[in-house]
Amino acid sequence: MSIESVLQENRLFAPSAEFAAGARVKSLAEYQAMCQHAEADYEGFWANLAREHLTWHKPFTQVLDQSNPPFYKWFADGELNVSYNCLDRHLPDLAHKIAVIFESDNGTVTKVTYAELHRLVCQFANGLKSLGVTKGDRVVVYMPMSIEAVVAMQACARIGAIHSVVFGGFSAKSLQERIIDAGAKIVITANGGVRGGKIVPLKATTDEALALGGCECVERVIVYKRVVHEDAPWTIGRDMWWHDLVKGKPETCEPTWVNAEDPLFILYTSGSTGKPKGVQHSSAGYLLGAVNTMLLTFDYRPDDVFWCTADVGWITGHSYVAYAPLAVGATQVIFEGIPTYPDAGRFWQMIERHRVTTFYTAPTAIRSLIKLGSDLPKQYNLSSLRLLGSVGEPINPEAWMWYHEVVGGGRCPIVDTWWQTETGSHMITPLPAAIATKPGSCTLPIPGIMVDIIDEAGEPVEKGKGGFLVIKKPFPSQVRTLWKDPERFKKSYFPEEYGGKYYLAGDSAHKDADGYIWIMGRIDDVLNVSGHRLGTMEIESALVGNSKVAEAAVVGRPDPIKGEAVVAFVVLKGARPAGDEAKALVAELRDWVAKEIGAIAKPDDIRFGDNLPKTRSGKIMRRLLRTIAKGEQITQDISTLENPAILQQLQEAV
Ligand code: WT7
Repeated sequence: MSIESVLQENRLFAPSAEFAAGARVKSLAEYQAMCQHAEADYEGFWANLAREHLTWHKPFTQVLDQSNPPFYKWFADGELNVSYNCLDRHLPDLAHKIAVIFESDNGTVTKVTYAELHRLVCQFANGLKSLGVTKGDRVVVYMPMSIEAVVAMQACARIGAIHSVVFGGFSAKSLQERIIDAGAKIVITANGGVRGGKIVPLKATTDEALALGGCECVERVIVYKRVVHEDAPWTIGRDMWWHDLVKGKPETCEPTWVNAEDPLFILYTSGSTGKPKGVQHSSAGYLLGAVNTMLLTFDYRPDDVFWCTADVGWITGHSYVAYAPLAVGATQVIFEGIPTYPDAGRFWQMIERHRVTTFYTAPTAIRSLIKLGSDLPKQYNLSSLRLLGSVGEPINPEAWMWYHEVVGGGRCPIVDTWWQTETGSHMITPLPAAIATKPGSCTLPIPGIMVDIIDEAGEPVEKGKGGFLVIKKPFPSQVRTLWKDPERFKKSYFPEEYGGKYYLAGDSAHKDADGYIWIMGRIDDVLNVSGHRLGTMEIESALVGNSKVAEAAVVGRPDPIKGEAVVAFVVLKGARPAGDEAKALVAELRDWVAKEIGAIAKPDDIRFGDNLPKTRSGKIMRRLLRTIAKGEQITQDISTLENPAILQQLQEAV
């Protein structure tokens, strides 16, 4: 999506009077009043919300502590427990309300009430305690989408342990790196995940990760039995079945009260170096962001059936599967499988079956389902839907219109939510009854989030201009630091080049004449592939880790389904291959990257050259590589290029 194409978009969709009638924030005027309140009394605004939305064990007296920027603290003398806020506080009224409707890959449905979920979390928390897990210990969760994955996260929160969820699609090596960096005492996994009829060998991959070495910190591996067969050998003394751990454990567990600022979790994400960043979130501020946006963005109503399709391995699955829906006492759907199994009607079938009211997914999923069956939604009754959400990457106006008309029947507002792993919760999104939407724009910030777009000099841009997206004031759900790396935290998000004052999101954005924000893409060497963040450096270092590879450069190429595709330019140690030999090597290197990082990072396209285009000082000219990746004619100035002859080689696809 180019600046030109989205900025020609001028369709405007005003919320219907019918939708607005029952909404929490009913009008633009009401939204503006909230923003003005936040402007006038920033701390008071957030303090009110923190008192209203969270249940405190010890009330806070301090609101924002800015004494050591950029290490901000919120509600720092308060105490609470996140799991108490998600479960116990609902038991008086909602004990028998369904908390989770779980649908397995093959369509089996399991429902648990708040009382049952509370019991499962307490028993598992008692199990963790019996293994000596205490407040501040790190627990890695490498699980399939399941009720148990949420139980594991909530149980950690209950006893003050810090979870670090690793997406089940990541490789043994990626898992090992994260276990070591976090210093995890426990790894929780399953003996298999089931996706699209295939088994994902999570326990075998865990074994492999631990065998790679350096994981001496791990004392126990807890294995949830998801599939009948056991996919891996058993290490006696280390491995332990989930069902054995919880057997006979008490059904209640007193929550461990933690400080507002105690870390709730670490979640690794890609940055512009080869090493993933351990984004560390707080307990109270994080939860406040999740609850506040669940209410505002999704206009949550008690009879909603909420479905966020994200995996718990990503921030979206943390905030809008494991925490926010539970914290507001919602009924939510959790899905084990994939949108295309048994066919591309699966999402629509599930919306019909569970009477889903609020559906939240990624543009990639929408685009691939349009391609695989644009009229499939019409075969299902989608009349229960009242609100649709989009997350993870820019949504192109065409996909937005299809989502609006075909899925939402023209009656459901679409909330295009811009945020990041680091922000913990939505930052820029329409409030569905207050803000008229434009296809492709995430519109305006959440009240109390001070977003702006600045130029190279650090000055805010005028309407109609573009620049770097920043958040000018600290906000409660903001990343606190990078795990064990406060220097990198400062450099990444509060860089001196931009004055060090504002949180720099790493995205470029444009502000239109109405002040609406349009996200244009990353400004760093980070790709967004199917809504997942991938560092080009990570893929490059994976490639050069192969004994046949001398040098590699990775760039993104616009892709109609995935948003961006991964294109790798590779220089081999041996001769440049051709024909079948080249094809075989492409397959080998793709598998290599999958093994090093995970299948999501597999290059879509690999080109071989005797060298890479470099300046005389040896710098790789990535701009040229991007042009070649797109298959476009090179029109840039190549006079500083040391070796123009290799351009031709790199243009030849295998
Ligand atoms: C990056 C953050 C936040 C949940 C999933 C991704 C891009 C995210 C949008 C959106 C345009 C978006 C940005 C951002 N992004 N949402 N609605 N419109 N771009 O989390 O992996 O931390 O990635 O995703 O580039 O910086 P993440």
